[in-house]
Amino acid sequence: TLTQAEKAAVATIWARVATQADAIGAESLERLFSSYPQTKTYFPHFDISQGSAQLRGHGSKVMNAIGEAVKNIDDIRGALAKLSELHAYILRVDPVNFKLLSHCILCSVAARYPSDFTPEVHAAWDKFLSSVSSVLTEKYR
Ligand code: HEM
Repeated sequence: TLTQAEKAAVATIWARVATQADAIGAESLERLFSSYPQTKTYFPHFDISQGSAQLRGHGSKVMNAIGEAVKNIDDIRGALAKLSELHAYILRVDPVNFKLLSHCILCSVAARYPSDFTPEVHAAWDKFLSSVSSVLTEKYR
């Protein structure tokens, strides 16, 4: 669980990210697909070329879900319950991929807000994204 200071750091960086959530979401997916090409196998039905409408649309959905988790930081499990079932039972995304996407989101945020991305913010955001990933993968057990 996150400390009060970590929650505050997450809220602070999210306030920035929220203003460009769609672009950051799309960039995170672009980073995911280019650095870890095996992840593309989950999206055979997508046009994943840079800046495609589907990439932007999906990036926006992913970041909206992250925003819900920020808003409900004391109940991420409740906030993402439906999404957790979707990824486990229907999409069957291998849990390793959540670490990869989290890393790509981290990079996109760092690249866009370098001066806000202090070591403290980095650590808090990383911990938050791993809580989100744990919730999204816990139904597999
Ligand atoms: C769908 C969020 C990780 C693959 C979705 C949707 C959301 C979402 C909000 C749309 C659900 C809907 O339409 O009702 C997230 C979040 C993640 C995450 C917050 C972690 C931070 C992943 C990973 C993969 C993945 C790691 C695979 C590499 C998919 C696929 C779909 C999907 C294939 C369906 C896309 C479609 O056909 O429209 N995800 N996701 N997700 N996600 Fe994730």
